[in-house]
Amino acid sequence: RNHKRVVDCRSDIDRMNAPFLAIYESLVPTEEEKSKQKQLLTSLEKLVNKEWPTAQLYLYGSCANSFGVSKSDIDVCLALEEPDINKSEILLKLADILQADNLENVQALTRARVPIVKLMDPVTGISCDICINNVLAVVNTKLLHDYAQIDDRLRQLAFIVKHWAKSRGVNVTYQGTLSSYAYVLMCIHFLQQRKPAILPCLQGMEATYVVTVDDIECAYFDQVQHLRDFGARNKERIAALVWAFFDYWAYRHDYANGVISVRTGSIISKRAKDWTRRIGNDRHLICIEDPFEISHDLGRVVDKYSIKTLREEFERAANIMHLDPDPCVTLFEPY
Ligand code: GTP
Ligand code: MG
Repeated sequence: RNHKRVVDCRSDIDRMNAPFLAIYESLVPTEEEKSKQKQLLTSLEKLVNKEWPTAQLYLYGSCANSFGVSKSDIDVCLALEEPDINKSEILLKLADILQADNLENVQALTRARVPIVKLMDPVTGISCDICINNVLAVVNTKLLHDYAQIDDRLRQLAFIVKHWAKSRGVNVTYQGTLSSYAYVLMCIHFLQQRKPAILPCLQGMEATYVVTVDDIECAYFDQVQHLRDFGARNKERIAALVWAFFDYWAYRHDYANGVISVRTGSIISKRAKDWTRRIGNDRHLICIEDPFEISHDLGRVVDKYSIKTLREEFERAANIMHLDPDPCVTLFEPY
């Protein structure tokens, strides 16, 4: 195949490792930034505990799953013990408390799919979203964090992919493109199916971590310090992986029938999940199964227009990686 010929021709791909790693390094948050995040969390904890003494605050999302780039907002979950609480009431009360403590841009979004309070801390300059009892998000944050410990190439690849998606405007869920969380799952899947595999399937191994959240049993092997050599037989480096990643989503994935499933470490069929038809607003044009909430398709936001945009962007990126003399520049050009 033509395609194969081009792949074989590019013998200079390893020349691109250094520039890709430089981009990765430039996106990693500094220790100073991490400590400011902790500082904000501590001051929020103090405020919250005055009103709800047994409440706990957890960081989740990219500031805790190790896929957070520099200057990201932080995601916080307020865990309350009381069984039947009215989330809107609590959020409005929380907003009052935060406002009174001089936090800025405080806003309660009680009607959102995940209701939150937004705020900006003028001391650290960090913006923050607080949700209530979203324990599944805390657990999937731990899963992503644990995958990142196994092989450094996952974090390198995911940072590059997130940076690309932001630059190209395809990381905007309300415009029908994918969330950062969905892109990280695509990176994990991609490294699981590499031959030899770079990542294992943690949910397919003996469970060492088990919690039940909202009737969903979340179980997987979390002793990842024992898996640091897992991908050692695969010698691919970052530039070759970025290239293969875009090639995979541009030319190899079966969008019509396949569901990306990190839970099983494979592609499973849409038919088996009954994701073949549009139901309500869920169109299932690209299917990405949530690892724990398995009826949840993270691709549900994608519509018949945005799927085209997404696939064209994957093809553009794959072609740049094939042919462009300076892919590190062209890949991230603003759209
Ligand atoms: P950035 O903020 O873009 O750096 O990445 P993020 O991983 O923090 O993404 P975001 O703030 O959109 O989401 C926060 C977290 O919510 C994710 O990391 C997941 O843990 C969790 N989450 C669970 N379900 C969903 C979902 O359907 N969409 C999104 N976006 N997040 C989900
Ligand atoms: Mg976030």
